[in-house]
Amino acid sequence: MKQYGLIGKQIQHSFSPSFFAKKFKNEGITDSEYHLFPLEKISDFNALIDQHPTLKGLNVTIPYKTEILPYLDKISPQAASIGAVNTIKFAGGLVHGFNTDVYGFQYSLASQLSKYQYNSTALILGAGGASKAVVYALNQMGINYKIVSRKKTQDRLTYSELKHEIVKRNLIIINTTPLGMYPEINSCPNLPYEAIGSDHLLFDLVYNPTQTRFMKNGIERGAKVVNGIEMLYLQAEKSWEIWQE
Ligand SMILES: NC(=O)c1ccc[n+]([C@@H]2O[C@H](COP(=O)([O-])OP(=O)(O)OC[C@H]3O[C@@H](n4cnc5c(N)ncnc54)[C@H](OP(=O)(O)O)[C@@H]3O)[C@@H](O)[C@H]2O)c1
Repeated sequence: MKQYGLIGKQIQHSFSPSFFAKKFKNEGITDSEYHLFPLEKISDFNALIDQHPTLKGLNVTIPYKTEILPYLDKISPQAASIGAVNTIKFAGGLVHGFNTDVYGFQYSLASQLSKYQYNSTALILGAGGASKAVVYALNQMGINYKIVSRKKTQDRLTYSELKHEIVKRNLIIINTTPLGMYPEINSCPNLPYEAIGSDHLLFDLVYNPTQTRFMKNGIERGAKVVNGIEMLYLQAEKSWEIWQE
């Protein structure tokens, strides 16, 4: 049996096992299984791969997308430039890292932008692993952006600096923080939501629940909203392609 799975910290609510179980059933794939491998700390990674010698591939999630880098033998140029890995392939005795979040995000955002004819600058909320993939995708797409983080740096805004005017003129707002993710469904990024209107597009990378507090706040003000489910499916399919190459 070929083994695949997901490493991360609190992953018991992840959609990935059911996504792959459904895919294997629908496509008649009988030689593969996909499991959750929760890791208390990233230094447990080597023990995990020693215990599971039939592992062919892993997805990596919060909070290990960056911390995994020192454990890899090879890294794709794209993942190296992003600085985050969400897909690992075991082949030829080597541990190889890739980033498929960027592919998933870019396709999902592009379909929204063409539907609504957007031409605006963006705010990226959060500066973790997924944010790095979003930054890479926006650079590829030629969309200017500002990162909003809890930590002040020269080129980032903090939430307290996010005044009404800034939110009003950046029509694309992308949540890459885990705020609002199940079971913390009542939390959301700290924005002046009254500055959001019907010209805004709120993209939440969170996909559980289907409609997050961030999205609901946008809907109440007439904004277009999208969650991260399409991105999740796209990045998972891309991981599968990489594992089969
Ligand atoms: N739909 C998909 O396919 C997909 C793919 C990837 C990720 N995601 C989702 O995206 C989210 C982030 O994942 P990740 O891997 O990027 O995690 P991560 O590396 O831990 O980064 C999350 C970032 O969010 C910010 N943040 C964390 N807690 C916060 C809080 N209490 N208040 C405000 N900001 C906070 C932090 O940025 P600062 O320290 O800069 O403030 C942190 O670096 C998760 O919910 C994940 O499920 C979805």
